[in-house]
Amino acid sequence: MYEFATSNKIIFGRGSFESLKEETKNIGKKALIVTGKKFLKESGLKERLEGILTSNKIEWVYFDGIPSDPEVGLVDEGRRIAKENRCDFVIGIGGGSSIDVAKAIAVLFDKPLKTIEYIGKVKIGRKGIPCIAIPTTSGTGSEVTKNSVLTDPERRAKRSLRENVVLPDIAVVDPLLTLTLPPDLTAWTGLDALVQAIESYVSRGANPLTDPIALQASILILKNLLTAVKDGNNIEAREAMSTGSMMAGIALANARLGAVHGLAHPLGINYGIHHGLICGVLLPSVMRFNMPVAEEKYANIYRAIEPSGYQLSHKECALKLLEIIENLLDSLNIPRKLSDFGIKEEDLENIALQSQSSESLKANPRQATPEDLIAIMRDIL
Ligand SMILES: [Fe+2]
Repeated sequence: MYEFATSNKIIFGRGSFESLKEETKNIGKKALIVTGKKFLKESGLKERLEGILTSNKIEWVYFDGIPSDPEVGLVDEGRRIAKENRCDFVIGIGGGSSIDVAKAIAVLFDKPLKTIEYIGKVKIGRKGIPCIAIPTTSGTGSEVTKNSVLTDPERRAKRSLRENVVLPDIAVVDPLLTLTLPPDLTAWTGLDALVQAIESYVSRGANPLTDPIALQASILILKNLLTAVKDGNNIEAREAMSTGSMMAGIALANARLGAVHGLAHPLGINYGIHHGLICGVLLPSVMRFNMPVAEEKYANIYRAIEPSGYQLSHKECALKLLEIIENLLDSLNIPRKLSDFGIKEEDLENIALQSQSSESLKANPRQATPEDLIAIMRDIL
């Protein structure tokens, strides 16, 4: 048995940002705009968004400065601001963190309890107010997922609201908005998308609907990430990355992820490493661990990129895919060792234990014990 759900409406394409004129006509009278620290202002998008809202006689209030790895308390603050200002819809614009916070504020808008209570405990029930998600990176795919990933400072852990009602009502994915993303962030967010595509493809939760989506996402990202990093103005590469990250988001929200994400969350929080970056560092080692059970699917990805792979065995193709990924990491100047981030042998056990509650880890195609996870990390220490 499987389920499949995604955002109610996806509007994709160069210039699709302008579709907001039509989409916000009847959605409400006051928007809460949830965004990061500076991109909106620096990119000129702020004026464009405000112009569209003004033309539809919509007022707005900002909840900005959303950092990476947002803490769960931020959602409570945003809910308070939205209520005090009587907002009747939410616009999340920015990277995955801004969109995750926007989704949580919208869905919990009129709920009585603190946000933390709805994570794994109380069912959310009906959605609060509508949410429009507009990504300005090609990474998390949050615009099409039912997950809102938040940091629980007490447990020093990432925890997710994860119900279908969290899905945005409208996702506006405009590759033109990603053109100014700097090379390092393009690389790191792109690696998150790559890992999400590959992990959801080989996940235990993969199904006939997610498989072709995850496979295509993997191909698009592998073929275009380096170009998007080296030549940020290459709109074809940027568009392929927007498509790939969105498709990876659709796949992961329905198939779940794997051991890379299981380990990336505690490593990211404990050592302050960008989520996509640590995902990229972990990927080769987790692929080597998963090889005995995921060989055929890895081979499918390789053969889609390199048709001569049809002459080779699954195992040979899977190893060639691993080689392509390791070469890509080197071309992107990604550090390949955990020790490059200050991680030590004596830290590994703690990280392995912290990852045990991860839903991603449970979906890994090969069961990984804490000892296995320590070995996976030691392999790249
Ligand atoms: Fe991720």
